[in-house]
Formats: sequence, structure tokens, C-alpha cells
Amino acid sequence: MDIRKLEKQTLEQIEKTSDENGLRIFEKQWLGPKGKIRELFRELKNFEPEERKKIGGEINLLKKELTAALEKKRTGAEKEKQGFVLEKEWLDATRPVKPAEIGHIHLLTSALKDIALIFKNLGFDSVSGPDIETEWNNFDALNIPAYHPARETADTFWLNQMSNVKSQKLLLRTHTSPSQIRHLLSHKPPCRIVSPGKVYRFEAIDASHNIEFWQLEGLAVDKNINFANLLDILRTFLKEFFKEKNLKIRIRPSYYPFVEPGIDIDLSFDGKKWIEAAGAGMVHPNVLKNTKLNPEGWQGIAFGIGVDRLIMLKHKIPDIRLLHSADLRFLKQF
Ligand code: PHE
Repeated sequence: MDIRKLEKQTLEQIEKTSDENGLRIFEKQWLGPKGKIRELFRELKNFEPEERKKIGGEINLLKKELTAALEKKRTGAEKEKQGFVLEKEWLDATRPVKPAEIGHIHLLTSALKDIALIFKNLGFDSVSGPDIETEWNNFDALNIPAYHPARETADTFWLNQMSNVKSQKLLLRTHTSPSQIRHLLSHKPPCRIVSPGKVYRFEAIDASHNIEFWQLEGLAVDKNINFANLLDILRTFLKEFFKEKNLKIRIRPSYYPFVEPGIDIDLSFDGKKWIEAAGAGMVHPNVLKNTKLNPEGWQGIAFGIGVDRLIMLKHKIPDIRLLHSADLRFLKQF
């Protein structure tokens, strides 16, 4: 009686059986009341007592093994049904993967960072103001009273306000200059700040105009600060930002109610095509008065840079709408 051989055969048979029905037949055949294990025990009587003991032990062991193997096969099948089998869920974590596509900082954001850094090195802190402004901060305090024609050129989006709330009229700011007012009313000069932000205008949209765009306001108030300082700061900034030898800067007189004298700054690479990139001037005495400063003791320089235009010029972008479009084909180039 070769129990070892039987053991090998039966265990293999269990392993091969794939359904519960097959297992049940096997169980009956081997472990049932009329099964083969019983039969083996019955045959024991034909052996000598010594051998009977040894073979009896082996049959017992076989019985235990078969019972365990059946049990194991059944729970395995059950787990498989529930989707627990790890072998099937095997995941090779070391397999090379397709690299995830990582985005990058938007051209506008990185340009704003560069600009703020240049001004930081020139001693200017960066501050921010809200997109929604009061009529007074956006116009009156900047020497643009209600009757002033400058209001019309900067017609904008007024906010619908509840009629029972008595507050100032609110609007989307038409320029970043109200941050001059906010800063001077809350900080004692001397000061040097830049204030980048979005501004809004009720304009027809085309390649160089949008109803929203970015500006960077600059303001420095001190006892002796003067027009030469203003020009020097702007020139230094522009040279640093463009890093272009053939950048040409043209300065011409202009008018803004909140500066006196006022200038516009045009830029060109070829000396033929010029683009207006900034307005600037000496802070008007009325603005100083409106922010409770004595124009006899203090003077200031102020500038407003068109950020979108600088970027367009630097990267030769033909249409402002591309900058604001979130079109990946465009953005991936920078
Ligand atoms: N606020 C002006 C504009 O939007 C620009 C400017 C700022 C001009 C500061 C002079 C001084 O056009």
C-alpha cells in the first residue's frame, strides 16, 4: 500500500478540479462513509500489528491532508469569486510609466514675477489692491471729478448695488492708480511701492485692446524725489526687463489728471513701429492733498505700466487675446 503515491495523486486531483460539483464528487469518493479512506482502514487488518500502526498513521495523515486541501480549494474559489485573489490583482509598481504631463507657470504670471523682482531690487515693495473699487478711489481722489472728460475715456463696468444700502458707487477699476490712494492713506511716506493687478475697461476688443488687462502701478513719495529719478527708474526697469540692446525708449508729454507734468512712454525695436507701454509723471498736488499729505513738504513720482503690452512686445505676440485665452497650443510655447 503506497500511501505516499496516493497522496500525490489525490492532491493533484483536488488541484485540477475547478468546480464545486467536482469537489463534492471527490469528497464522497474519498472521505464519504463508503469512501476510499474507509476502505484503506478496513484493509489494515491484513497487516502485521507493527505495520498496521505505521500505515494507520499514514492513512490518518492522508485523510487530514485531503480535508485541508478541499477546504483550501473551496475558500480559494470563494475569494476568487469576490475578486480577492492577489495574484490576479498583481501590479508591477516598478514598470516604467508614461510621464505625467506637468504644466508650467502662465506667461503673464512669470512676467509679473520678473517685473516685481526688478522693482524689488530698485527698492520697491509689492502691494495689491482690489479689482472692485470705490468711485472716489478710482476717480475723485485721483483728481478726476465727476464732470471731468477723463471719466468718459475710461468708461467702465459699474456694479449694481442695492438701493437701500447707502454706500459709494462701486466699479471694476479702470486702472491700478487707486492703489496709490489706498497706500498713501494707510502708510506714512517716504514709500516706494509697485502694485500689479487686473484692470477693466468698457472697450471694443481687438488685437491690442481687451476689456480686461494687466497693469503695474508704481509710486514713490519722498521729500526730494524728482522727475529725473522717475525717468531713471523707468529706463533701468525697461532695460532690465527686455535685455535687448536695440530697445528704443521714447518719452513724450501726455496728460493724466493725477500727475503734473505727465508723460507717455513708447517702445520700439526698429525705430519705426512704436507701442505705448506706460504713462507716468509727478504726483499731482491734489492727489497728495486728498491723501492728507502736504504738497509743500512731499513730492511723488508715479507710473502705470501696461503689462500685457510689455509681454507682447518681448515675445512678439501679435494678439492680446492669445494671452488671455488659455489656449494650450499658445501657452506651451513659453
Ligand atoms: N493710470 C494711467 C492709465 O491707466 C497710467 C498712469 C499711472 C499714468 C500713473 C500716470 C501715472 O492709463
